[in-house]
Amino acid sequence: MTPILEAQNVKKHFPTGGGLFQKKGLVKAVDGVSLSITPGETFAIVGESGCGKSTLARLLMRLLDPTSGDVVFDGKQVTAAKGVALSALRRDMQFIFQDPFSSLNPRMTVGKLVGEPLEVHAPELSKIDRRAKVADLLAKVGLRPEHADRYAHEFSGGQRQRIGIARALASGPRLIIGDEPVSALDVSVQAQVVNLLGDLGRDLGLTLVLIAHDLAVIRHMSDRVAVMYLGKIVEQGTTDDVFEQPRHPYTRALLDAIPDLDDQSGASRARIEGEMPSPSAPPPGCAFHTRCPHATALCREAVPQPVETPNGHMTACHHWQDIPAAPRQTTPRSKSPATLARLALYRQATRGGADHPRRIPNP
Ligand SMILES: Nc1ncnc2c1ncn2[C@@H]1O[C@H](COP(=O)(O)OP(=O)(O)O)[C@@H](O)[C@H]1O
Ligand code: SF4
Ligand SMILES: [Mg+2]
Repeated sequence: MTPILEAQNVKKHFPTGGGLFQKKGLVKAVDGVSLSITPGETFAIVGESGCGKSTLARLLMRLLDPTSGDVVFDGKQVTAAKGVALSALRRDMQFIFQDPFSSLNPRMTVGKLVGEPLEVHAPELSKIDRRAKVADLLAKVGLRPEHADRYAHEFSGGQRQRIGIARALASGPRLIIGDEPVSALDVSVQAQVVNLLGDLGRDLGLTLVLIAHDLAVIRHMSDRVAVMYLGKIVEQGTTDDVFEQPRHPYTRALLDAIPDLDDQSGASRARIEGEMPSPSAPPPGCAFHTRCPHATALCREAVPQPVETPNGHMTACHHWQDIPAAPRQTTPRSKSPATLARLALYRQATRGGADHPRRIPNP
């Protein structure tokens, strides 16, 4: 199937320093990312904080220009879009922000917030039609028509994120990118918003690109997943394959750090060793070698190129064929309500695994 969105070796290097006492440098926030997203799928991007997820999302939306490489939406170069083409792109691709508290203008009513994109992208609508359309959009996200006359600060975090989603839907987009869309919400509300996004994606035939560091959310929602480390994708495949047969040591470490699905106590497993290095001074060779228990001399010198594994997913590791499945450790951790709520979501996601609601055939 023809991809709806592609990144072709995209890089974003931010110049830093250069002040009186600072050395000039480059933050390699995104450092050669290629991906291809199929219409109608939910594609997740995961990785630790600072690995470049938000920068990549902004490059895909052309909220940032890449240092090099191309982004292609629906066969057209995003990087070169100007004028009418750029305005069409703004209509077709929408963004849902992480923080529903700061992303909505407090001086605008909900009706105005949701109606504003309609003024831009559907100027032919009369005032009455626009109001009806806003009511329809609010209903789609589980809010009531009378909410249109209230202000965003009168709503809870979950409701505000629903307003943000209604606003994103207003232009009739084909693709929505959510940058950690539920991570600022209470755990009890997260699952509701996640399910709303899943339902909308399916009902409206939307393509979703979901950035999350919460693996439960990704397991629950996504069809495919890309794992990022220091600006590069290190593993990519169907969500089932990546969760059940992770090939890259970093993916394994991420999965090992989530609570055990079968353990009712909320105990988590191993933590990832060490700190993530700075993207302004990434280690040579494989950037993960400073934290990888399998690193060899080769890893310290040569950058591993992505290869396709027999089950059709991509991994960038010199030794993926030689590394045995990691033994499971059980390090007891907190039994906080938040951990237990997460576990409930994991279990729900695991049970739904076989007949995944958004499963589509592989391209
Ligand atoms: N405008 C910028 N100027 C300099 N560095 C930036 C800028 N934006 C992001 N970075 C750096 O790029 C890296 C990746 O950031 P980001 O994309 O926000 O990661 P993530 O969303 O995965 O947490 C971080 O080290 C961050 O400090
Ligand atoms: S290439 Fe080497 S250091 Fe990098 S993940 Fe593979 S084994 Fe670990
Ligand atoms: Mg981010």
